[in-house]
Amino acid sequence: HKESEDNLRSPICCIMGHVDTGKTKLLDCIRGTNVQEGEAGGITQQIGATYFPAENIRERTKELKADVKLKVPGLLVIDTPGHESFTNLRSRGSGLCDIAVLVVDIMHGLEPQTIESLNLLKMRNTKFIVALNKMRFIMVDRLYGWKTCCNAPIEKAMKQQSKDVKIQFETQLVQIITQFKEQGLNTELNNMDKEMRETYRIVPTSAISGEGIPDLLLCTVLEVKVIEGLGTTIDVVLVNGVLHEGDQIVVCGIQGPIVTSIRALLTPHPMNELRVKGTYQNHRAIKGAQGIKITAPCLEHAIAGAALYVVGPHDDLEEVNETAMGDMKSVLSRIDKSGEGVCVQASTLGSLEALLEFLKTPEVNIPVSGISKGTVHKKDVMKASVMLEKKKEFATILAFDVKVTPEAWKLADDLGVKMFMADIIYHLFDQFKGYINNLKE
Ligand code: GTP
Ligand code: MG
Ligand code: NA
Repeated sequence: HKESEDNLRSPICCIMGHVDTGKTKLLDCIRGTNVQEGEAGGITQQIGATYFPAENIRERTKELKADVKLKVPGLLVIDTPGHESFTNLRSRGSGLCDIAVLVVDIMHGLEPQTIESLNLLKMRNTKFIVALNKMRFIMVDRLYGWKTCCNAPIEKAMKQQSKDVKIQFETQLVQIITQFKEQGLNTELNNMDKEMRETYRIVPTSAISGEGIPDLLLCTVLEVKVIEGLGTTIDVVLVNGVLHEGDQIVVCGIQGPIVTSIRALLTPHPMNELRVKGTYQNHRAIKGAQGIKITAPCLEHAIAGAALYVVGPHDDLEEVNETAMGDMKSVLSRIDKSGEGVCVQASTLGSLEALLEFLKTPEVNIPVSGISKGTVHKKDVMKASVMLEKKKEFATILAFDVKVTPEAWKLADDLGVKMFMADIIYHLFDQFKGYINNLKE
């Protein structure tokens, strides 16, 4: 599966936890940004998304001297609100992610939305890492004399601390481990050298001075390595009938039907869950009912939750394609019925869904007339230019974490199509709002 390994999608990591535990601040600390201070009331009210390229993660974790071979191109991190009224967004975020970071305030321990988040993660069997945040805060405030070691691995930072600091920390840690136990979960202070299968790792952090950030990133990457599959694969539940290696199949894709053929048919060993990575058995043919992992070319644009169709010798491919695309309805339902709206473009299906979700919220409420994935090309600009006749301000492309070809830029310029690029969802909104306000004046 060599060639497909070069084509792994970026895993999605969701940051969850009770309000004000420091989720956004942690991300700010990693990004070197200041999103949190710009938030109204210091409260996150939307799903945010940031892409961390593999090089950055490597750089930030190098002090730990772990030989991390990242096969994925990066990590898409989703920030969620902790305020109690945003259960829908937490549920949405946890539904998108492959892995999560649960942020807990070291002085407050488990709070109502910590437990709510925990239950969402349990429900979907999602692995997570606990960030025990505000390390420095409690120590400084309580005059235990925390010694700042900016962005240091936590072990190194702890070595600099006085005995009092260590005792204080231990006391809090024990309490929090007990609280997790009450929720039926085993947690333990992270030990990088130890494989922690049934135990969830706790990583102490400070979002203000960055202690523990390298550990948090490394843990996330370690867990991601456990879940990454065999290149671009899809998990399928075969209800009845038989699938064979080499069968021509059609699945619903974001840019149209994907016609491909099965390269490998894999199943977990009996009594293992399909979603949990282990070793797989290879099959020439498989009979339903069975949970199967399929490797095939061109699957990276496949839409989860849609049906898979096998093209039989007497089937009309056009007809099969049409049937397969019937499943696209749910994604298309995000597109405004009036046909008026901006075009959005994002790097992965996950980020596209997060962006659509964000644009749909009442506070943002930007109608969408077209969606695309990947680099913005001339054809995307052409598509957006249709709006020039209908509603000029919607002749706009909101490009989230994607590149734009020089030809596309030029065409947009020539036609008068606006293009906003950002790698933080909020920024797209801000830019677009600024533009609309300008037009009104
Ligand atoms: P919501 O998104 O609204 O749920 O909050 P959040 O979890 O994203 O927390 P946020 O990043 O908004 O931080 C809340 C407050 O805690 C801010 O005032 C931060 O400056 C502060 N804070 C966050 N992390 C730390 C930390 O490690 N140490 C200290 N001293 N303060 C922190
Ligand atoms: Mg926040
Ligand atoms: Na906050």
